[in-house]
Amino acid sequence: SKKPVRVAVTGAAGQIGYALLFRIASGEMLGKDQPVILQLLEIPDEKAQNALKGVIMELEDCAFPLLAGIEAHSDAESAFKNTDYAILVGARPRGPGMERKDLLSANAQIFTVQGKALNKVASRNVKVLVVGNPANTNAYIAMKSAPDLPRENFTAMLRLDHNRAASQIAAKTGGTVGGIEKLTVWGNHSPTMYADYRFATIDGKNVKEAINDDVWNRDTFLPTVGKRGAAIIAARGLSSAASAANAAIDHMRDWALGTNGKWVTMGIPSNGEYGIPKDVIFGFPVTTENGKYKIVEGLPIDAFSQERIDLTLKELTEEQDGVKHLL
Ligand code: NAI
Repeated sequence: SKKPVRVAVTGAAGQIGYALLFRIASGEMLGKDQPVILQLLEIPDEKAQNALKGVIMELEDCAFPLLAGIEAHSDAESAFKNTDYAILVGARPRGPGMERKDLLSANAQIFTVQGKALNKVASRNVKVLVVGNPANTNAYIAMKSAPDLPRENFTAMLRLDHNRAASQIAAKTGGTVGGIEKLTVWGNHSPTMYADYRFATIDGKNVKEAINDDVWNRDTFLPTVGKRGAAIIAARGLSSAASAANAAIDHMRDWALGTNGKWVTMGIPSNGEYGIPKDVIFGFPVTTENGKYKIVEGLPIDAFSQERIDLTLKELTEEQDGVKHLL
């Protein structure tokens, strides 16, 4: 049988953690033949550490055959020791009416410390997924704080936006979500993201032709996908946790195990593709193989798409400028 791999998860006692850990331990992320050791990080606060103990008791009580070990940590350097995967969820979540910008500086602190810790102690091949918001900028901070690790190891979660877009498209066209190919989301994980179905097919049919409604795209589809997180907070009184955890599983599984040519969306550091400046962590269409992702290149960008890409890039650039002094 396979040697266990180490999976670090931060914010492990939070609501996304609660929807995520059991699925990792059951083999849904890395495969039903891959044992895992969970290295869980929470803040030192007594309440958080107690909550983490409770989650660990439940993980134990699931008796997952693939769960080869569970560790509880209160500092990043011990939590990230030799880790092969790091899912950075812990952050200050957005409450009702709270601006993203307010979160920037509070979170910059966290991701500088965690980037440095990964740099020092993680596996040199560690795959890092940042979920905690603002996810792209937090991934950028962690990457910049880890100069000894390959920059392509740092990614941000755009997969929830991608999955949200897929579900809206399936509902609009009457097709099946599983039958969607070649969908992507460009840019920042924020309402400025640009979900782009120009190349997409659903059950073999061209999505743009099937919908044939640019006004719906601009005035209904993009705002619905972009503001879905806020709509869920308004409805549930809590941010989207189960769907976020599901997207994290999808992102890591596809990165680790490959997509067989299928496009998925990942927030990854640009190398200048599509005119996005180097190092900006941007949502791109990718395929993955052998643990590496590759941007789908050469797609035509029309005027409307360019306008949207410029808008989300502008927001990301401003976020990055807002944290530069901390790096
Ligand atoms: P939560 O508040 O329920 O849990 C966060 C947990 O992180 C708490 O237990 C807290 O103690 C812990 N934490 C805070 N700072 C930490 C640190 N420095 N080290 C370790 N743990 C730390 O929040 P929830 O709902 O689980 O969301 C977590 C984050 O995920 C938020 O930033 C939220 O905005 C973001 N999110 C991102 C999505 C995406 O698509 N990228 C989707 C949904 C949420």
